[in-house]
Amino acid sequence: MKTASMIVDRDYFIDHTDEKLFCSFVEPLGRCIYGGLYEPGHPDADENGFRRDVLSLIKPLNLTMNRFPGGNYTSTFRWEDSVGPKECRPRRAEVAWQCIETNQFGLNEFADWSKLNGSDVMMTVNLATRGVLEAMNCVEYCNLEGGTYWSDLRRSHGYEKPHGYKYWCLSNEIDGPWQVGQNTGAVYGHLAREASKAMKLIDPEIKTVLAGSSNPSMPTYPVFDAEALDQAWEYVDYLSLHHYISNRKGDTPNYLARTLTTDLMFKQIGGLFAWMKAKKRSSHNVYVSFDEYNTWHTVSGTERFEKPRWGIATPLLEDTYVMEDAVALGSLLITILRNCDIVKIACLSELVNCISHIRTRTGGGCWVLPPYYTFLHFSKYGRGTVLNPRIDSPKYDSTDYTDVPFLDAIPVLNDDGSITVFAVNRSLDETLPLEVELRGFGNDFAIEEVIILSNPDPKATNTEDNPDNVRPHAGSAAYEDGRLRADLAPLSWNVLRLKVQ
Ligand code: AHR
Repeated sequence: MKTASMIVDRDYFIDHTDEKLFCSFVEPLGRCIYGGLYEPGHPDADENGFRRDVLSLIKPLNLTMNRFPGGNYTSTFRWEDSVGPKECRPRRAEVAWQCIETNQFGLNEFADWSKLNGSDVMMTVNLATRGVLEAMNCVEYCNLEGGTYWSDLRRSHGYEKPHGYKYWCLSNEIDGPWQVGQNTGAVYGHLAREASKAMKLIDPEIKTVLAGSSNPSMPTYPVFDAEALDQAWEYVDYLSLHHYISNRKGDTPNYLARTLTTDLMFKQIGGLFAWMKAKKRSSHNVYVSFDEYNTWHTVSGTERFEKPRWGIATPLLEDTYVMEDAVALGSLLITILRNCDIVKIACLSELVNCISHIRTRTGGGCWVLPPYYTFLHFSKYGRGTVLNPRIDSPKYDSTDYTDVPFLDAIPVLNDDGSITVFAVNRSLDETLPLEVELRGFGNDFAIEEVIILSNPDPKATNTEDNPDNVRPHAGSAAYEDGRLRADLAPLSWNVLRLKVQ
């Protein structure tokens, strides 16, 4: 294949990454919590029921913050059910996922687990079927020191110090017909504005996230976003966007090209922000909270009705992720970095078992699926100044896309002066030669490390019995006089790391 070239100039950059680009999402869905990160009685569980073995897989991901509890789950969530003595907590019919919610793991348990993991919490309030007052009460419970009904209730529950949550989602995917409490952008935007205003009267330090489109193929995209923002612009800080990409039709070249849609969505929403700011004669900025993204193949709309209803922690959305998903995720992560001037929060959906790369056996072990490593590398080496490269790559056409570059790549100038180039080769069968020219850095570099995730079988994966079948391995590259050269294996995720000489 023809060589792909990339020019990287120190003076041309996109932005510094926000710490909140390295987040995940935890929803009481299937076995994400119960049988996932929480399983009292498991041989590896601590005194709170938190699985230590699962935590040991999560910790290296260095997650800054995790969104909780939803998700579709939020639309009938009564946060008060999930606090206080466990034996008094009600069991509820959880309609989003058609199961019973026992509320044994709630708001304070997630606070404890997050502390253990060293991550913050992005809390979601229910504006789909509840209102402004319940949202205010939740902020008061979480964030006020004491001396009021809700803050004293928290203290009576054993949490003397406030949780001090800064980031608050104003409901979830209100545009979706599957949502309990679906609404128009204008009606929802008005309610979200009033909720945000009132929540900030309780705690002026908080930042709020307006729910935007569930995905860019929604018929109401981007009108829903525009209408909601028109109502709420001055009162909110982020617009939530979601995008899952899938290979349901078994068309891998087309699947790998789907991130072009993600990229386009960010560009379109960036344009919407600029237009709205002009329309409002505003100096206020709103950024993207990309708080659900991943690859996802199971058909969510029907699976929840196909299993027996009203079970507890019934397995749901447990995709077996494979090698090609690791590459597709890599391209999603590169897309996030490429748009980090407007994308300031990003949450990989979800953390354990459901749509997740960490898999557990209830009562048994846990292991990781190939895309786990892609995210691990992103979190480990993706922090810094994202540079704006000029890329020239050979291209292909797929079922839905034309001119898809085989190379998807982004360079990051890490804060210690080293450079990381993340690169994906979308070709299923050909090696892609890559040449990177570095300009204006004022110092010379040497190869620090080359990490490759590839496998001749696009469907290769890991299992409990064979957990290391797909693992990253060391690769090679050449560096001389400001030029980095590497051969990218077919269908591969590559991390090329240069250190200052
Ligand atoms: O992550 C699973 C579901 O996907 C979430 O609950 C919802 O927000 C989205 O539709």
